[in-house]
Amino acid sequence: MEEKQHIGQLFDRIAGTYDGLNHGLSLNIDRCWRRKMVKMMPPAAHVLDVAIGTADLTIEMLHKGKAEKVTGLDLSDKMMAIGKEKCAKRKMNVTFVHGNAQEMPYENESFDGVTCAFGCRNFSDLDAGLKEMCRVLKPGGQVTILEFSYPTNHFIRALYDLYFSHVLPAIGRIVSRDKSAYTYLNRSVKSFCWGETFVQHLHDAGFREERFTPLSLGIATIYTAKK
Ligand SMILES: C[S@@+](CC[C@H](N)C(=O)[O-])C[C@H]1O[C@@H](n2cnc3c(N)ncnc32)[C@H](O)[C@@H]1O
Repeated sequence: MEEKQHIGQLFDRIAGTYDGLNHGLSLNIDRCWRRKMVKMMPPAAHVLDVAIGTADLTIEMLHKGKAEKVTGLDLSDKMMAIGKEKCAKRKMNVTFVHGNAQEMPYENESFDGVTCAFGCRNFSDLDAGLKEMCRVLKPGGQVTILEFSYPTNHFIRALYDLYFSHVLPAIGRIVSRDKSAYTYLNRSVKSFCWGETFVQHLHDAGFREERFTPLSLGIATIYTAKK
């Protein structure tokens, strides 16, 4: 099966339990991280939210007036169906598009801002995804990315390993009734790059003024860069 089909289907399978598990397993810290991310975004007329999923980031940026209009791109129709429902309830102006972040269906320089929360580590080709983000962004626009990273403190790192290797896959398996999805999450977090290495990927993709801000002792990191 093609990689992109596989990822789309994996998230389709866990879509129904995704929000509850996210907020429950993180004790709602994921909401604080998205709020912080939105604070670091400059206001923009039209934002592309790459890997929009169930639209939590989109809702936060519209709520805080950081975007007038949002287009969300994702490979999972079921994740987006939940996002659509949440946005419709709030009467928010969001367009959901099924598509691959590594081959975006947009002209060059189509968006004033680009965001991606917890999407990048799922890309089979990170550089292709980042290059696409740069291509569709208008000059002067900002990309804002939130992704899991790896704590530098040894004690926190040991707890983090325990949580991601054992606790999260076990609870994820029981609640989502999916044997592989949360084991995949664990693998994808541990093998993904972070900090200076991620910044180098942003730079190579064509961005400038790259910065990163670790959150919660380095469990997650916000990256910003300009085109
Ligand atoms: C962990 S969820 C994050 C969703 C949302 N951004 C959030 O903050 O909760 C990852 C999302 O990335 C999507 N995704 C993974 N690879 C993708 C790709 N290559 N192109 C578009 N979406 C992708 C998945 O379908 C899934 O909805």
